[in-house]
Amino acid sequence: MTTASAPGKVILFGEHAVVSGITALGGAIDLRAKATVRNRPGCALIKTDDLVLRGFSLDLISGQLLSPQAANATRYISAVLREFDARNIQVETKSALPLAAGLGSSAAIVVATVTALSQHLGQELSQKEIAATSYRLEKEVQQGMASPTDTALAVFGGYLRVSKEISALDLPSLEMVVGFTGVPHDTKSEVEKVQGLRRNYPELVDPIFQAIGSISERAVHLIREHKAAKLGQMMNINHGLLEALGVSSRELGELVYAARGAGGALGAKLTGAGGGGCMIAIPGPAGAEALMTAIRQARGVPFKVSVGCEGVRMERDP
Ligand code: PMV
Repeated sequence: MTTASAPGKVILFGEHAVVSGITALGGAIDLRAKATVRNRPGCALIKTDDLVLRGFSLDLISGQLLSPQAANATRYISAVLREFDARNIQVETKSALPLAAGLGSSAAIVVATVTALSQHLGQELSQKEIAATSYRLEKEVQQGMASPTDTALAVFGGYLRVSKEISALDLPSLEMVVGFTGVPHDTKSEVEKVQGLRRNYPELVDPIFQAIGSISERAVHLIREHKAAKLGQMMNINHGLLEALGVSSRELGELVYAARGAGGALGAKLTGAGGGGCMIAIPGPAGAEALMTAIRQARGVPFKVSVGCEGVRMERDP
C-alpha cells in the first residue's frame, strides 16, 4: 500500500492579467488530496471520498457508473491509471478540497495519484517529472484547458510567481480564510469574457492589467516583510480591478463585504477565475474565527488555510 498527498492552491494576486503575460502570485494551501494505491487482483477500482462525493466507488472493469458527478471525479484517476498501464490496482482518494471551486482540487488529485502510483510501481520520478506528467494528464482530461500553475503548486508547494514562466519564491507562510460561494466556477468562460473585453477596449483593459501586475510585484515584498495590513489593501484594490473586469458576482461580493465588515478582515478579494468559486481574506485583530463566522452568515463555506505549505509528500497511512 502506498499513499501520497498533495495540496490545493489559491491565486493570491494577478488572475486574468496573467493570461496576457502579466505577473501573478499563487500559493499552496494546507487543504490536501490524498491517494492510496493497493494491489487488488482482478480489478481496477477507484474510490473517492471528498466534500461532494462521500464514499463513492467505481469499478473500471465492470464500468458501473453511479452518477454524472462520479464520472467527473474519476476521469482524472482513470487517466493516471492509463498513463502507467496499471492493472490489478485499487486507487482510493480522499480530498478536503471542494470541486470546481478554483482551489486546484483536480491538480492535487492527479499529483497525489501520479506520485503514489509511480512509487508503488517502483518507478522513481523526480518532482519535475511528476509536475510535467500531471500537467499533461490534467490538460488532456480538461481538453487543453489547464494552467501549469495548479499542478506545479501541488508538486512543489510554497509560492510561485507566474508570468510567461513559472518560478518558485521563498516566502513565509500566510494565514488566510477561504470562503467558498457554493457556486461552481467556469474558468474557460470567465477567461473568454475578459479577453473579449480586452480586444474591444484595449486602452481600458491594458492599464487595469498593468495595475494588477504592479500589485503582484508589490505583494511579494509585503509577504516577505510580514506587512499584513498593506497586503490587505492590495487585496482590496485587486478585487476592485477584477470587479471592473466583470468577473465578480453577487455571491462573491457578499462574501468579500461580509469579510471586510463583520469579519474584520484586513483585506478580501475573489481568487481564481471568478464568476463563482472562492474568495480569500486576511484575518484582522478579531481573528480567523470572527472572519469565518461572518462568511458563514453570508451563506459561504469558510476554510482556515495556511498559504505556502509543503508540496506533494508520501504519507505513512491512508
Ligand atoms: O480558475 P482558477 O482558480 O484555476 O484560476 C484561473 C486563473 C486565470 O488567471 C483566470 C486563468 C489562468 O489560466 O491563469
